[in-house]
Amino acid sequence: MIAGIEVAPSILNADFADLRSEVAKVATADWLHLDIMDGHFVPNLSFGPAVAEALRAHTALPFEAHLMVENPEVYISPFKEAGVARILVHPEGTIHLHRLVQQIKASGLEAGVALNPATPLGTIDLVLPDLTIVLLMTVNPGFGGQKLIPGVLPKIQQLRQRITKAGLDCRIGVDGGINQTTAAEVIAAGADFIVAGTHIFRNQEEPAQVIAALKQLGTAKIAD
Ligand code: DX5
Ligand code: ZN
Repeated sequence: MIAGIEVAPSILNADFADLRSEVAKVATADWLHLDIMDGHFVPNLSFGPAVAEALRAHTALPFEAHLMVENPEVYISPFKEAGVARILVHPEGTIHLHRLVQQIKASGLEAGVALNPATPLGTIDLVLPDLTIVLLMTVNPGFGGQKLIPGVLPKIQQLRQRITKAGLDCRIGVDGGINQTTAAEVIAAGADFIVAGTHIFRNQEEPAQVIAALKQLGTAKIAD
């Protein structure tokens, strides 16, 4: 049974000229998702620890940094200092994933792994017990506002089976192209952590209403 859906707004498509008030609008979410891009691992540049630090005092939400960077090892302590609670790293961006996960945990942060759409689940078998979340990219990373790749749905189901079979307390996150319709699909497949950027920050409805509607999908799931 899914213990309830968590929602993590991504600020990548928020109004960068007014981030303090954008973040205040999503106070009813569960996490704030910070997309960190270095222009090498993905063909886009976003922001660094300084922005996380600037926002830290303006919201009670815990921050997760989604590192879409080469050499993620060098960013663990700067983001810890900036007040981030969880760091998600890509196995595609490091040579020593196990050591990197240990480094994140040793710094007192929660560790998560994000997998690009084409990266197989087997990549994380050895580190799965150390993770509080596996984030399955439902788009190729680098930009907000893309369409969900439907081929990732079976991967969500397979990961749910593996986590349930192993009796692990690890969330299944999805990231990219999530809206009310695709959220229902990924939750039905076994996801319980929803990252959404465009759907929350570039919507007719107020962010709080969009977040509430996404969470509603989780209670509907439990009622099934
Ligand atoms: C893409 C990022 C996602 C993205 C989500 O590389 O990891 O978090 O910002 O944005 P939407 O929800 O607009 O697809
Ligand atoms: Zn992300």
